[in-house]
Amino acid sequence: MNKHISYKLDQLFVEDVAVSDITSNLRTPFYVYSRTSIKDNFDRFTRSLKGLDSIICYSVKANSNLSVLETIARVGGGADVVSIGEYHRALRAGIDQKRIVFSGVGKQDFEIAEALKSSLLQFNIESVSELESINKIGIRLNKPAPIAFRVNPDIDAGTHENISTGKADNKFGIPIDKAKEVYEYANTLEKIKIVGIDVHIGSQISNLSAFRQTFEHLAKLIGELKSINIHLENIDIGGGLGIKYTDDDLEPDLQEYSTLVKKILGNLNCRIIFEPGRYIVGNCGILVTKVLYKKTTQNKNFIITDAGMNDFSRTALYGATHRLIPLTRVNNEETEIYDVVGPVCETTDTFLKNRLMKSVEPGDYLAFLDVGAYGAVLSSEYNTRPLVPETMVYKKRYEIVRARPTYEEIFDKEVMPTWE
Ligand code: LLP
Repeated sequence: MNKHISYKLDQLFVEDVAVSDITSNLRTPFYVYSRTSIKDNFDRFTRSLKGLDSIICYSVKANSNLSVLETIARVGGGADVVSIGEYHRALRAGIDQKRIVFSGVGKQDFEIAEALKSSLLQFNIESVSELESINKIGIRLNKPAPIAFRVNPDIDAGTHENISTGKADNKFGIPIDKAKEVYEYANTLEKIKIVGIDVHIGSQISNLSAFRQTFEHLAKLIGELKSINIHLENIDIGGGLGIKYTDDDLEPDLQEYSTLVKKILGNLNCRIIFEPGRYIVGNCGILVTKVLYKKTTQNKNFIITDAGMNDFSRTALYGATHRLIPLTRVNNEETEIYDVVGPVCETTDTFLKNRLMKSVEPGDYLAFLDVGAYGAVLSSEYNTRPLVPETMVYKKRYEIVRARPTYEEIFDKEVMPTWE
């Protein structure tokens, strides 16, 4: 368990705040993030890159709350964004625009124009048609666009198929064996400035050999580009480093990963861009929920929580398992086998199946662990359940960093047209 999220005298604390202090002021469900953990993870990543010309562009999609981005800005991080919305968030949080890469397979013209006008480190381009759009926008604005191509190495990252991105069947990137000719073509375009190359093979990867193969492919391609006089400044190797969610998960070793990068890509005279998301924020967040009801059917015991799949959807989307622990540790040795489900009217609104757990009662508070990445960002108002609030702890204090909207605020965005 994250050392900043732990029990003190049987009470769950995030840093120096008892989570029960937050539940007395804020209705569950809500997220709690530990700012110190984010800093620690970022610093550990930075330290592992010692000696390498590199920049860490935190992948904003993992957790885009401004308080998280501000923490990243404070420790000197850049950002990997996939929409102009994320770009503006990053700027608002104080991240330097020259440290922002703009990724994504479907950028829109207005997004490209806004980012180019204001400045950025590079566009990570995923198709020839995108390249041509960017060139046209560059001509219109009379500004060269710094670009890298995301190449697809056709490598199986060995992760869940819904978060695998580096195989030939995936929509991402341009095929690596077409890359040379695409670079040559890009070189002929008026407002395209080739600055780099990019790859991202998937997420929650624990098998370093998939990274090794990818880096070797990249090194080879970079050599070929050099031979036709295309010299790159940046090698963006994406994110994807996994974390340990349960005892069954392997934890990839950060140091080994960094050593691999240094060995294969460290001597090519380029700056290496990293886009970690989950590694930086994954273990820094919990989702606090209350047991609403218990019920027993013919063959199951259910715990019904006030958090649902609209608040946290990793289980429904990827079959992910997250540990669930009580806010107050009890000495009760009694255990039961439960399915833990939310209140949403869908069978996929199930967090845990057939779990042996200490008995709980309605009114008890529980916390899902390791939900800092791809938790709140994927939440929705399905079933007209207001967007789940987020809080951040730093040492002895906490703040609500995204408030729960009121029903009026939700309804105010909608209109009943008066047709007659
Ligand atoms: N760079 C690019 C281009 C990406 O698409 C992603 C994640 C990252 C970096 C960051 O990857 P990370 O270091 O976090 O693995 N919602 C899914 C994960 C989707 C990942 C999407 N792309 C989940 O909850 O497992």
